[in-house]
Amino acid sequence: MNTNEIIKQLEELNKKSITLDLDENTRNKILNEVSNYTNQFISTLKATKGFGKPNAESLEIKNEPISIEKILQLYQHQVAETGINAASSKHLGYIPGGGVYTAALADYIAAITNPFASVYYASPGAATIENEVVDWLKKVFSFPKDSVGCLSSGGSISTLIALAAARDFYQIKNEKIKKSVVYLSEQVHHSTQKALRILGLEDVLIRYIPLDSHHRIIPSELNSLIENDKNNFLHPFLIVATAGTTDTGAIDPLNDIADIAQMHQLWFHVDAAYGGFFILTSKNALFKGIERADSLIVDPHKGLFLPYGVGAVLVKNSHTVLHSNYYTANYMQDGVNEEMIKSPANLSPELTKHFRGLRVWLPLQYHGIEPFIACLEEKLLLVHYFRNELINLGFHVGPQPDLSVSYFWYPFENDMEQKNRLLMDEIHNDGALFLSSSIIDKRFVIRIAVLAFRTKKETIDEAIEMIKRCLLKVKS
Ligand SMILES: Cc1ncc(COP(=O)(O)O)c(C=O)c1O
Repeated sequence: MNTNEIIKQLEELNKKSITLDLDENTRNKILNEVSNYTNQFISTLKATKGFGKPNAESLEIKNEPISIEKILQLYQHQVAETGINAASSKHLGYIPGGGVYTAALADYIAAITNPFASVYYASPGAATIENEVVDWLKKVFSFPKDSVGCLSSGGSISTLIALAAARDFYQIKNEKIKKSVVYLSEQVHHSTQKALRILGLEDVLIRYIPLDSHHRIIPSELNSLIENDKNNFLHPFLIVATAGTTDTGAIDPLNDIADIAQMHQLWFHVDAAYGGFFILTSKNALFKGIERADSLIVDPHKGLFLPYGVGAVLVKNSHTVLHSNYYTANYMQDGVNEEMIKSPANLSPELTKHFRGLRVWLPLQYHGIEPFIACLEEKLLLVHYFRNELINLGFHVGPQPDLSVSYFWYPFENDMEQKNRLLMDEIHNDGALFLSSSIIDKRFVIRIAVLAFRTKKETIDEAIEMIKRCLLKVKS
């Protein structure tokens, strides 16, 4: 093809490809539509249900353009109105999400400017913001300055990074795997067992540590298990404790566990994905010992009420994290002179990634920390209030939680398990608010998790009303 032909073809192609780069008028129009839609979404949240059934309409991509109005309509019917309304106050199941507005604006700015946050050389500013967030987390959890960390997509990936560091520190590979022992609580989040499997550690021995009546690890039992395994010439290497269990809102006795880990020279990992930011509240004393962990995970998309998609991991031993994640290639050569630790890509499996630091940094800068702390403190009181109200209605409740997750059941005279399941079904059919269930100590229970930032006393009052309605139905 000669140059003239190339130019002609380029002109033809440009007529179509240029439409990807919208002009200012179109940008304003489309942004206005999106802004109207999201404002309407937020303004009507109080009136919308916590849980909706799926719609049958199609979301298939047909490769032909459709208008923004139609796209938003589809989104509203097929996405916003279906399933759990995680942005609403009424999400009281699993671990509720957030959706602080300023984080969405940060995402918008990050996506438009699109800096390459993973490599310091490529975007020193964006990498610095990511690192500033990590440094702030080090201060929150009293981790030393020379520990390292990064922002991930959430708790599961953070766990993977932390446990890879533990694995590589003790060089758990080949024949050593089958003799290596990991100590977990029955209440550990399943992302831990999943991470072990992904990391090639499916065949390690797992010991489940007995728990006390508040679902916390009993340190003396942990110690006995380790001693027994050592006496049997096995290789204990990892203890996972939780600061805020998903089902029971418990904080394991971190300081006592840290003593045991130190005495036996085991890696001490703390899963603070859900509960970590409660360290900023009146519950601070319960976190004593967290600063002694070798690694720690915490999710800003849980306890900082940010939209889904941002977790964090801190690890004290930088060498082992670099060993797991640092790799380079010829096409990366321009970046290799910069200090390794400044580039998030060296501390995580991700290279190209969303610049997620901004969605943490911007809200913290804009609001300051106080509203976040007040919001967490409020959640602690709300779960207390909920439990009191339930007891007045004749429900049985689980032990007083350390944080904002609790569980309950109704003591039906017969078919108790079956009827509590029916009660859960009724609550889901009602859909005004969303709660979820679990099995704790072999008993079917209904859970409440108060963490959505919009959840207030009125929400809990509505939840109680809904539970009363549903209970009447099961009883009749
Ligand atoms: C205690 C705990 N750890 C880890 C996770 C996994 O986090 P993610 O869902 O962000 O991957 C969760 C999720 O709820 C959790 O509650």
